[in-house]
Amino acid sequence: MSKSVDTPIPYGRQNITKEDIRAVTEALKSDYLTQGPRINEFEEAFAEYVGSKYAVAVSNGTAALHLCTMALDVEKGDKVITTPITFAASANCVRYCGGEVVFADIEPETYLLDIDKVIELLEASPKGTYKGMIPVDFAGRAINLEAYRKLADEHNLWIIEDSCHAPGGFFTDCEGKQQHCGNGNFADLAIFSFHPVKHIAAGEGGMITTNDEELYEKLIKLRTHGITKNESEYQNTVEFAVGSTQNSKLKTQNYPNWYMEMQELGYNYRITDFQCALGKSQLKRADEGIERRREIASVYFEAFDEEDFIQGQSGVVEGHAYHLYVIEVKDRLDLYNYLRELNIYAQIHYIPCHLMPYYRQFGWKEGDLMHAEEYYRNCISLPIYPTLTNEQQQFVIEKIVEYYK
Ligand SMILES: Cc1ncc(COP(=O)(O)O)c(C=O)c1O
Repeated sequence: MSKSVDTPIPYGRQNITKEDIRAVTEALKSDYLTQGPRINEFEEAFAEYVGSKYAVAVSNGTAALHLCTMALDVEKGDKVITTPITFAASANCVRYCGGEVVFADIEPETYLLDIDKVIELLEASPKGTYKGMIPVDFAGRAINLEAYRKLADEHNLWIIEDSCHAPGGFFTDCEGKQQHCGNGNFADLAIFSFHPVKHIAAGEGGMITTNDEELYEKLIKLRTHGITKNESEYQNTVEFAVGSTQNSKLKTQNYPNWYMEMQELGYNYRITDFQCALGKSQLKRADEGIERRREIASVYFEAFDEEDFIQGQSGVVEGHAYHLYVIEVKDRLDLYNYLRELNIYAQIHYIPCHLMPYYRQFGWKEGDLMHAEEYYRNCISLPIYPTLTNEQQQFVIEKIVEYYK
C-alpha cells in the first residue's frame, strides 16, 4: 500500500482567515445578530461583483431557488426544464411549487445542459407547454446564456440560472464580451450558495441576483413572510392600521410606525448579519481564490492530458470558476476507494437527479438520459480549493497515475 498523507485531502474546503474571524467577531459584538447593516452591504458588494443591479441575500441556495420559483409564479403542473447533473435543489424548487420537472440530457463534452436536447423538447410540444428553464453552471463552467435567452424569448420562457458553482465565472458572448454568471443580462434570476465547499463561505447562505426591479421587490417580500413595510403598497386603510375610527384627528394621520402588512404567503428565508459579515469578508478574496482554482485545474489538465485512462476531464476553459475538477475514468469505484485509503477524499458529482427514487416515481428510468448516465458511471471530482498545496496536488496526481499503471 502506498503511503497516505497525515492531513486528509477533501475534494473541497473553506478557507477562513484572521480577517474573516475579525469581521464576524465585530458583527457579533454589534447590536445586530439577525437583520443588521451587513446584509445590505453584502448584497451591494455581491451585486457589484457579478455585475447585476440587485441582489437579495437569503438563508441558503435552496431557499434562493424556492423564492425564485415563487416569484416567477410556478404553479401546479407547470413544466420546467433542467439538467439531471446537478444537486437535487435545482429541480426540487419546481416541485416545492407543484410544478413538473422535465430533465434534458447533458452535453458529454461540457457536462452542461444540452441546448439541442432542450430545443427538441420545446419543439415536440405546443408553445406554452413549458414555463421556464433552470440551466446550471455545473462545476463552475458558465453555460452560454445568450443562446438560452434567445430560445427563452422564442418560447416565452423564463430562466433561472443556478450559479451555485460559479461566482466569478463567465462565458464570452457573440460580440466577444465576457458575461459574468449572475449578471442578469440573460437570466431573469440567478442564484448562488455560500455553503462552505463553495467559493464564498457564509456557513449557510444564498444570494439571488437580477436586473428586474419588479422581481427584486417580490423577492424581498417573500424572503420575510410576504410582509411589506412600504406604505405605498398598503391595502388596509389608515383607520384600520391606527386601530381606531373614533378619533377623527387620527384619520388624517399616516400609517403608524409599527404597521406592516403580510400580503402574500412567504417564508422566513433570511440570513443573519454575522453570516453576511463572513460572506462579505470572503468576497474580497474571491478573485484570488478563482485564480488559484484555475492554476490547480491547469496542473490537473497537463498531468492527465496524455493519459490513456482518462476518458474526459473538466479541462482548461476560459471563464471556468472550477468549483469542481472532474475526470472521467474506468473503474471509478476502485479508484475512489483506493484514494480514500490514502486519505484523499474525492467525491462524485452527481448521481443523476432523474434516477433519484423521488423522481423515478414520476416515470423517469434508466436509459432516459444516456449522456448523464454514462457521465455518472465514470465521473470523479478531484480535490480543488485555494489552500490545496502544490505538494498535495502532486500527491493526488501521482497516486492516480500509479493506480492505473
Ligand atoms: C448546483 C447547486 N444548486 C443548489 C444548491 C443548494 O444550495 P444550498 O446547499 O446552499 O441550499 C447547491 C448546493 O449544494 C448546488 O450545488
